[in-house]
Amino acid sequence: MTSFKEFCLILILLVVISHDQSVLGSNKHQKQPCKRFVVYYHDILFGGFGGDDPANSTSAVVANATQLGNFFGMLVVFDDPVTKDQNLNSPPVARAQGFYFYDLKNSFGAWFAFTLVFNSSDYKGTLDIMGADPIKAKTRDLSVVGGTGDFLLARGIATLQTDALEGTVYFRLKMDIKL
Ligand SMILES: *[C@@H]1O[C@H](CO)[C@@H](O)[C@H](O)[C@H]1NC(C)=O
Ligand SMILES: *[C@@H]1O[C@H](CO)[C@@H](O)[C@H](O)[C@H]1NC(C)=O
Ligand SMILES: *[C@@H]1O[C@H](CO)[C@@H](O)[C@H](O)[C@H]1NC(C)=O
Repeated sequence: MTSFKEFCLILILLVVISHDQSVLGSNKHQKQPCKRFVVYYHDILFGGFGGDDPANSTSAVVANATQLGNFFGMLVVFDDPVTKDQNLNSPPVARAQGFYFYDLKNSFGAWFAFTLVFNSSDYKGTLDIMGADPIKAKTRDLSVVGGTGDFLLARGIATLQTDALEGTVYFRLKMDIKL
């Protein structure tokens, strides 16, 4: 005879198994993004170890690095143009507004939080992106945590890749956005 205890255990197992299956099922589904596009982020740094042209700069060091190495603690605020192709002078399709700071002591890496603000005939609205950026890795996945307008309630992944680096003054990131 099955005791009440055993009955409960079987019931819990069944619930756990069916829950797992639904989670696996939905993960499978989420592997196909609804919307996917690639844009390029251009950062022209002013101050600190960056450049010295305020007219051309789109980001600035607002807190200097500490003496812990790897720029640990340096905070950079940016209002950067985002373009459809790699050309810095192409008309921007969005602006990336936010900040990053270096937060790895034993390696080189940053933490990003920013909003992609779209205001073009193609897209109007915002996408909020945040997460760790271990700069040395070839690709880094950041979370898309929300959005407004054409991107209402967006969720997804922004895969970043360093696409160009000019000393410490300019860098370009390829952003492969999957929603
Ligand atoms: C920033 O910090 C670095 C490392 O401590 C130092 O060498 C540099 O002079 C500082 N720059 C400014 C503008 O304070
Ligand atoms: C978006 O672009 C339009 C047309 O150029 C402009 O009038 C409007 O102020 C812009 N909105 C924002 C939030 O930048
Ligand atoms: C602005 O900075 C970028 C990146 O360093 C550079 O390619 C470009 O020539 C600069 N533009 C001007 C007008 O100085």
